[in-house]
Amino acid sequence: MMIAIGSDHGGYELKEQIKAFLDEKDLAYKDFGTYSPESCDYADIAEAACDAVVSGECEKALLFCGTGIGISMAANKINGIRAAACCDYFSAKYTRLHNDANVLCLGGRVVGVGEACELIDVFLSTEFEGGRHAVRIGKIAALEERERGLKDE
Ligand code: RB5
Repeated sequence: MMIAIGSDHGGYELKEQIKAFLDEKDLAYKDFGTYSPESCDYADIAEAACDAVVSGECEKALLFCGTGIGISMAANKINGIRAAACCDYFSAKYTRLHNDANVLCLGGRVVGVGEACELIDVFLSTEFEGGRHAVRIGKIAALEERERGLKDE
């Protein structure tokens, strides 16, 4: 599995720490930046990393900003992306089981590296349950279709 990773400056340090964790686990990743602690805009990073998920180049993405929230908002504007900003284990697990989330967003100013590793571990190892939840995911896709239609009008 190829994982896209990315952060703005608020999540930069955590992203760098998570790279060591992914290396340890022998998990392949592609880093979409940012590549220094200089200030940058999280929407640009979300766009680059999430495009790689939608194209199939990467299966999932791990994104980091100060809170995990801004970068998740940007990610969720991209059709096909279901991004979840999580700061607890239950949410990171259930966003895979019930929402089939393909992007996990964490806050570098919210969670420590130890907790972040646990959240990433459960996120990457939990399968989507399907069934009634697939119907709900279908309705999210239908909303994306509706938005596309409105744009074309
Ligand atoms: C950057 O200062 C900060 O606003 C950003 O990392 C993020 O927390 C936004 O949601």
